[in-house]
Amino acid sequence: MSTKLPVGILGATGVVGQRFIQMLEHHPWFEVVWLAASDRSEARPYAEAARWRLKTAIPSNVANMTVSAATPEGAPKIIFAALDAGIARELEPQFAAAGCAVVSNSSALRMQSDVPLVIPEVNGDHIKLIECQSWRRKSGGYVVTNSNCSAMGLVLALAPLYRRFGLETVMVVTMQAVSGAGYPGVASLDILGNVIPYIAKEEEKMEEETQKLLGKLNGSSIIPAPFPVSAQCNRVAVEDGHTESVAVRLSKKAASEEIVEAWNDFRGEAQELRLPSAPEQPVSYLTAADRPQPRFDVDLGAGMTTAVGRLRKCNVLDWKFTVLSHNTIRGAAGAALLNAELLKARGYLG
Ligand SMILES: NC(=O)c1ccc[n+]([C@@H]2O[C@H](COP(=O)([O-])OP(=O)(O)OC[C@H]3O[C@@H](n4cnc5c(N)ncnc54)[C@H](OP(=O)(O)O)[C@@H]3O)[C@@H](O)[C@H]2O)c1
Repeated sequence: MSTKLPVGILGATGVVGQRFIQMLEHHPWFEVVWLAASDRSEARPYAEAARWRLKTAIPSNVANMTVSAATPEGAPKIIFAALDAGIARELEPQFAAAGCAVVSNSSALRMQSDVPLVIPEVNGDHIKLIECQSWRRKSGGYVVTNSNCSAMGLVLALAPLYRRFGLETVMVVTMQAVSGAGYPGVASLDILGNVIPYIAKEEEKMEEETQKLLGKLNGSSIIPAPFPVSAQCNRVAVEDGHTESVAVRLSKKAASEEIVEAWNDFRGEAQELRLPSAPEQPVSYLTAADRPQPRFDVDLGAGMTTAVGRLRKCNVLDWKFTVLSHNTIRGAAGAALLNAELLKARGYLG
C-alpha cells in the first residue's frame, strides 16, 4: 500500500493542471488520486478529456482515471487548484470549508488579507496567516496561494537585492509566453509575428503581489513592501518562459559583483528543508552577454530556477537586468508543489 499522501487536482485538464500531473508523477510524498474539471470533462477518462500538451506521456495511472465533478464530496484532503479565477473564487472556499488544504494557483484569493501568498525561498513565514482563516477554525481547511507567473520571476530576482541593499523603485517590462494564457489561449492569428501590449489585470497583479510577497508579517496581516513597482506587460510569440526587463533603484550603493553574488548565493527555507521540488539554486546569474533566452534557459533547474543576466548601469535608476522564469513550472504548478511541500514540512498536512 502506498504511504504517499493522496492529492487531487482541480482544473486538471488545463495547461497548469497538466503540469501538476507531470510534476507529481514520481513525487516522493504525494500521489494523484482524484482529478476534476468542468462539466465538459466530467465523467470522461482523463486522456480523452484533456488535450495533453506536454512532451512527456500522460502517466498511465492518470490516463484512465475518470474526471470527477468539481465538488468536495469524495475529494482527498489535499487539493492543488488550477482553475480560472472566476470559478476559483466560488469553488476554492467550498473545498476549504469542507476541510481541504487548497494549494492554489489562481488570483481569486491571493490578495485576501488572511490568505498567504507564498514563495518558500522568500516569505515562508507568511504561511502562519492560515491560522486567521475562518475555514481553518471551523473545519481545519485553508487556502494557500502562489503568485502570478510574471510576479514569480521578478520577486525571486528582487528578494536577494531587497535583503542586502534595500529597494527604492522597481520598473519592469515583460515579454510573456503564450502558455501563460492557458489553452487554447491566444488565437494564432493574433500572436504570430506580433506583440500584444496588453494582458488583462496582469500589471496590477505584478505590482500588488510583489509588495505583498516582499512585505512583513505583522500578527494577522501583511504590511506591504513600501517601494513602488511599475509594470508593463506584453504577450509575445514564445511557447514557455516569461522574460522581463527590470530596472531598480537600491537603498544602499552596491557594486555589480556584489549584486551578482547576492543572486547566486541566495537560498531560502526550501533549500534548508531540502524540499523535493526545490532547485539547488533559486536564482542563477548567466554571464553571456545575450542570455537569458527562453529557448535555451527556460528549463534551468528543471524549470524551478530563475535566470538573471545582462546586469548593467541604468542612467535613470541604478541598475538594469533581464529575468527569465518558466511560467507553468516555477510560475504555476512547481510553485504550488513547493508550497505544499513546505506545508508538509511544517506539519500543516496532517
Ligand atoms: N498558464 C500559466 O502560465 C499560469 C501561471 C500561473 C497561474 N495560472 C493560473 O492558473 C489557473 C489555470 O490556468 P491555465 O493556464 O491552466 O488555464 P486553462 O488551460 O484554461 O485551464 C482551466 C482549467 O479549469 C477548468 N475549468 C474551467 N471552468 C470550470 C468550472 N466551471 N468548473 C470546474 N473546472 C473548470 C478547465 O476544465 P475543462 O478542460 O473541463 O474546461 C481546465 O481544467 C488560472 O487561474 C491562471 O490564471 C496560470
